[in-house]
This record gives sequence, C-alpha cells and structure tokens, in this order.
Amino acid sequence: MPDFKKVWEDFLTYSPGSTADVRVFFAPGRVNLIGEHIDYNGGLVMPAALTIGTWLFLRERSDGISRFASQAFPSVSTTNVSAIKKEAQGDFSDYMKGIYHAFAHHGSKHSPAADFYFVSNLPNQAGLSSSAAVELATAYALNTLGHLGYSTLDLVRLSQEAENEFVGVNCGIMDQFAVGMGKASHAMLLNTSNLDYEYIPAEMGQYRLVITNTNKKRQLSDSKYNERRQECETALSKLQAHFPSMIHLVENGEVAPKLDRYLDDEVLIRRTRHVMTENKRVMDATNALKNRQMVEFGKLLNASHESLRDDYEVTGKELDALVEAQWHAPGCIGARMTGAGFGGCTVGLVHEDAIDDFQAQVEQKYRQATGLTPSFYVSDIGEGVREVTEEV
Ligand code: GLA
Repeated sequence: MPDFKKVWEDFLTYSPGSTADVRVFFAPGRVNLIGEHIDYNGGLVMPAALTIGTWLFLRERSDGISRFASQAFPSVSTTNVSAIKKEAQGDFSDYMKGIYHAFAHHGSKHSPAADFYFVSNLPNQAGLSSSAAVELATAYALNTLGHLGYSTLDLVRLSQEAENEFVGVNCGIMDQFAVGMGKASHAMLLNTSNLDYEYIPAEMGQYRLVITNTNKKRQLSDSKYNERRQECETALSKLQAHFPSMIHLVENGEVAPKLDRYLDDEVLIRRTRHVMTENKRVMDATNALKNRQMVEFGKLLNASHESLRDDYEVTGKELDALVEAQWHAPGCIGARMTGAGFGGCTVGLVHEDAIDDFQAQVEQKYRQATGLTPSFYVSDIGEGVREVTEEV
C-alpha cells in the first residue's frame, strides 16, 4: 500500500492555491485468467480485477488548465483542456489527454480541468493493465466531477477509444472492461463480440492466484501486437472466402484441425488455430471454475500457454522459463503467461500451503535460466474503478 499520509502531503504541495476539495479515485490492475489474444477476434475472455492498482488524487481548477503528474513521473505537464489536439506526445500525459479528447469527441466539451496526481502499486508495463487503470481512473473522475452522465460501460468503451485512437495502441476491450467492471472475488466471462458478460465466483478452494513478473520490460506499442492483429485479419478474410457467414476468427472452431484445407500459409494456420482453440479452452475453463474443478482449470492454463508459445508466438525466453519453473514447482497446478506477452507477467494457481516453497523454487530456477529475479504478487480479486476519498 502507498503511504497515503505522504502522498496527501505531496499532492497539497504540488497543487497549491486551490481551495477545491481533494477527491481520490482508485482503478485496479487486472489479470487475465484465460482467453489470450482473442478479445480482438470476437472471443471469450476471463479476466479479473486485482486489489492492487492506481490511485488518482485530483482537485478541480477553475482556469481551464489541467496539470498531470505522478509519483513515478513527477515532472508536471500542463494542457488547456478545451484545446486538446489529437496529437500524442509519446509520454504519460497521452492517457489523460486521450480521455479528454474522447469525451469531447462524444459531445462532452466541458470536462472539468484539474490537478492530477497518480500513485500506483502496480508494476508499469508488466501486462497488468497499468495503462487501462490510468485511463479508467481519469474517465471515472472527470465523469463524476463534471456530472457528465456516462455509465461505467460507456467509460470502458471511451477508454479503449482513447488507447486506440489517441495513444495509438490497437488493443481490444478486455483490459478496460476488467478495470472498469471488476467485482470482488469474481472472475468475469466477457464475450467480446457483443459485450455480454457474466460474473463467476472465483471459488478456488485451497488454491491462490500467484502473479509473477518476469521483470523483462515490454513495450506494447513497439511489440508485435499490431502485427498479430493484422495476421488475424488476413486469416479471417481468407476464411470468409470459404465461410461467408463468418464474422469473427473464433467462429467455426470445428475447422481448427483441418485449417490447411482453407489457408495456404503455415503462419496463418497456427495463428488461427490458437484463436479457435483458446476460445474453446475458455468455455471449458468456465465449466471447470463453476464446478470447482481446479485441477482441470490448471491444465487448461498450461494448454493455453503452450498454444501462445507454439502457435501464437508471443511468449519468448523469459516467459517460457518462468512458466516452466512453475510447472515443476511445489503446489502449482497450472501456470501461463498473462496479457499481451513478450515479457510482463504470468499467472499460476498454487496451493496455499506451498506458496513459500513455490516462490523459492521458481525464483531459483528462473534466475538460473535468465539471470533475472522475478517479483511475486499474491493478490486477491477486487472491485472495479471507484471513488475512495473516504478511505484514504
Ligand atoms: C493486451 C491488450 C488486450 C488483449 C491482451 C491479450 O493486454 O490490451 O486488449 O488483447 O493484450 O489478450
């Protein structure tokens, strides 16, 4: 937990002069349990919000100027909120400016100006949606202060739009959805083709979710993320020539074993096979979780990792070493990479009595294989974005 007394003092120093009330908002990080790289293919995904996340301290200003800073990036950047151009600077302020821009684009020209100060206990750029947390905290705070009247689901869509159109990362909707709509002790089953969703009690018996950071930095926008999206679009258009009613690549999963009849490119075959089989794994994982069959759930996590490694090729040396170390560690019944991949975090299911031994063994094996030291987070599943002024 951040030292809120200190943060409060830092904020008052950083935001002098104003007499407006200080308001505090919280947006969690998220972990995706299963359903990876299919939220932009109309697939099913099963994320959960975490209890770690990002706090936004904020105080309204009357001069139309917003100022942005954070504990991690203390230098202040300022902007006139009625004149934000669609021009990313390539820095942290893009997330907030992107939200202002998206509100304006949807007709809310008078979002309030404010001093913003962010504090987080989420690792940055580690695949736990630190960016979506900043976006949702901003959107939720402006909506609340300015009485803009958007629902949380609207704010989820708007935040994805800010990320796609302003920041320039072509992500799906899973991260913003999980950060916005999370529910304590529940996983979410989201159908990304129509945004239907269901909360599933995450009753995992004696097993706990352990998130482990490879501590290998990744840059989503620099990574092969957009290339994978492009490959999926190409595969879909080729398949549509044979199956004209197909709208999303996850559909028609029964052709997965005979894709070479319809696709002439070995890479596209593997990408499509991942998408189709992953969607099926999410259905199976939903049944397993509902029936509290955790061993079965764990096997599906392992199969998901193998598919992401071999067919989708988004893991890499560090993620593979970290997951393999977990597969052989005490108390672990399943583990996989989570998020976009190419570095970032893994998620594992570990028996609660074995967590210390598990961590010791994984750390040793991973260090041996890569020279890097992993970080562990045993986080509970928490609520989505909200105001927490009274709690800090
Ligand atoms: C990133 C994106 C998500 C999703 C995952 C992969 O986290 O932001 O939309 O595509 O990668 O499942």
